[in-house]
Amino acid sequence: MIWLIGNKGMLGTELSLLLGKSGVPFIGTDKEVDITKLSALRDFTHTKHIEWIINCAAYTAVDKAEDERENSHLLNTVGPQNIATMAKEIGARLIHISTDYVFNGQGNRPYTEEDATDPIGVYGLTKRDGENKVLEENDKSYVIRTAWLYGNYGNNFVHTMLRLMKERESISVVNDQHGSPTWSGDLAETIYTFIHLIRENKTIPYGIYHFTNEGKITWFDFAKGIYTQARDFGILTKECEIKPCCSDDFPSKVKRPAYSVLDKSKIKTTLGITIPAWDVSLRRYLSKYA
Ligand SMILES: NC(=O)c1ccc[n+]([C@@H]2O[C@H](COP(=O)([O-])OP(=O)(O)OC[C@H]3O[C@@H](n4cnc5c(N)ncnc54)[C@H](OP(=O)(O)O)[C@@H]3O)[C@@H](O)[C@H]2O)c1
Repeated sequence: MIWLIGNKGMLGTELSLLLGKSGVPFIGTDKEVDITKLSALRDFTHTKHIEWIINCAAYTAVDKAEDERENSHLLNTVGPQNIATMAKEIGARLIHISTDYVFNGQGNRPYTEEDATDPIGVYGLTKRDGENKVLEENDKSYVIRTAWLYGNYGNNFVHTMLRLMKERESISVVNDQHGSPTWSGDLAETIYTFIHLIRENKTIPYGIYHFTNEGKITWFDFAKGIYTQARDFGILTKECEIKPCCSDDFPSKVKRPAYSVLDKSKIKTTLGITIPAWDVSLRRYLSKYA
């Protein structure tokens, strides 16, 4: 059985629906089984035969993390460590989700899994420490780093942009941070592919993998793509001007990586997958947007 932790979050909900459709036995939990308490995890697994654990639970409020260091540490470092410890105790494989924020964003070519981490904020630091704990505690672990995630089931850039474009005549969007958007539907499919291939007896080396949609754009480019497609689909019926601006125009406590494109060669070769371009996935997502 698969245990999906954080099943009410944006990615967790997407995975829950996918696992439900695939027919594989799984059970999902969220805050009711607190990952910061090892005893709660042990109690939950006590009477169950769990072969896989997928951890989608996290502290994801990047800005708030600067003021809530302890909470971020508990959820992003201690929680994953507890999950990895417990997974090892019961002999389960673990898939843990991490982030491009483990890098400092000063690169100028896509980051590989071998590149040195150097987080520049509390969220990235606590996620990086969580990755290390997972890999130290349970050698049957996969860590999948992703970035700029959006989907149906939570607050995210696409929802915010659509709301603002409906409300305002013009909006300014930062044009000096480069990355790759990721539709949670594509990431959920890829996570499931790990499990599916191993069940089919394919050997997939444990360790870190990078996954985002293809393409390198700025948030401004992303906003323009959302606008154009939302107009095409009739989701947005009024005009809105999208203007480029700089990160410095939005003063914030937290520094965000200027460049966070991830190299996906490893995951594509290992799983034998192709990854859709960001605008193709955005179109698939918006075509079903209600
Ligand atoms: N969102 C992005 O843009 C992005 C980018 C890169 C990487 N990631 C990574 O992708 C993964 C999934 O992100 P997401 O955006 O889907 O996250 P999310 O929507 O914030 O979901 C996280 C879930 O964990 C739950 N949770 C909180 N405290 C918990 C606890 N003590 N025990 C168990 N569950 C608890 C949350 O509940 P509450 O909501 O009630 O607190 C929420 O349902 C995370 O590892 C994140 O770091 C996300």
